[in-house]
Amino acid sequence: MNTPAMASPPSVSTGLPTATELNRFLSQIPSETSLAERVLLYELFKNSWDGEGKVVEIGPFLGGTTRAIAWGMQHNTNRQAVAAFYTFDRFSDYHTPETLRKMLEPMVQSKVFKAEEADSLCATGSFLALFKAIHEPHEYYQLMEIHDSPMPDLTDEVASSKALDCLAETKDLGAVFIDGCKSWASTYYAMKFLLPRTRLHAPVIFQDFGWYTCFWISSFVYALRDVLTYEKHADSTYVFRLTKAVSEAGIAKRFKPTPEAMGGVFFQQADDYLFTQCQARNDSRGALIARLHHIAALATTHRLDAAAKILKSINPYEYQAHVNLIQGCLKSPTYRPGGEPILWTDKN
Ligand SMILES: C[S@@+](CC[C@H](N)C(=O)[O-])C[C@H]1O[C@@H](n2cnc3c(N)ncnc32)[C@H](O)[C@@H]1O
Repeated sequence: MNTPAMASPPSVSTGLPTATELNRFLSQIPSETSLAERVLLYELFKNSWDGEGKVVEIGPFLGGTTRAIAWGMQHNTNRQAVAAFYTFDRFSDYHTPETLRKMLEPMVQSKVFKAEEADSLCATGSFLALFKAIHEPHEYYQLMEIHDSPMPDLTDEVASSKALDCLAETKDLGAVFIDGCKSWASTYYAMKFLLPRTRLHAPVIFQDFGWYTCFWISSFVYALRDVLTYEKHADSTYVFRLTKAVSEAGIAKRFKPTPEAMGGVFFQQADDYLFTQCQARNDSRGALIARLHHIAALATTHRLDAAAKILKSINPYEYQAHVNLIQGCLKSPTYRPGGEPILWTDKN
């Protein structure tokens, strides 16, 4: 591996990166998040994570968000010696080797990897070795524990899943960041496992809260609105705090194993509530997402006509800044577990 040319040295005077160094270092890894989202994560873990307990990330991909969180943890002056960062992904079945290699080209151009190293690291669809090679040269890597561990995406896989069992004895999770729950079942499993083990007032962060397909995330936040309190957001990433303890049974009572079990009234109420909350804090993206997630829920539960009626009622001129989300929904409102898109032409 080449010398990591862009491993921004911290500013000499403070030991912390300047804004330019921060932006450069957080832009080095190909990521499916925006720089604003990664800066939010860095700042949060540097300044307003209390420095205690284990931090959990689900869905790092190549680790754009991982670096933001880990670097923020490294620079947090309250960090306790036992604090650690657990990151979970299935590290495969995501992009083809060709796409991975294309995505890695900027890291070759910036001399982080030689071309032959990049070719070899992207030779299969697995990106675990690549993930390790990206992060290992950096000091923050000492905080990380990497788990190659698929979350269950199907309802009948949930009961037997051991995806998070390495944390079974943990009672002090210090923060949770979710970007790899791409189904209702994985959200149900991960939240039922993680939240009862999470410290009061810890940040609970959902990258997909603001993405139009992922209605399971906002549904969960709505179902648990008495314990999850909104704090802030950047683009699609929304930060909540766990403001009341909740047990596994308490979660199971509020959030059922399938969208069908929640029933149509739940999704209408979630839309009304989240829309009103987001409007009240001038969050136009969140307000639009409330509608688009309602559409996605109806499409998933085979009510495409009702979903289309809501889509027609949205005035795109009110949401100019987020018109890409409406365009995405027009193509396909959401997908089934495993990624198959639901199409407007599907039979109800
Ligand atoms: C949108 S990407 C994450 C982007 C990333 N946070 C970044 O900074 O670029 C979603 C990630 O979730 C992972 N993922 C999807 N479904 C999963 C599952 N069932 N179990 C574990 N990981 C999963 C994918 O492998 C992928 O790495």
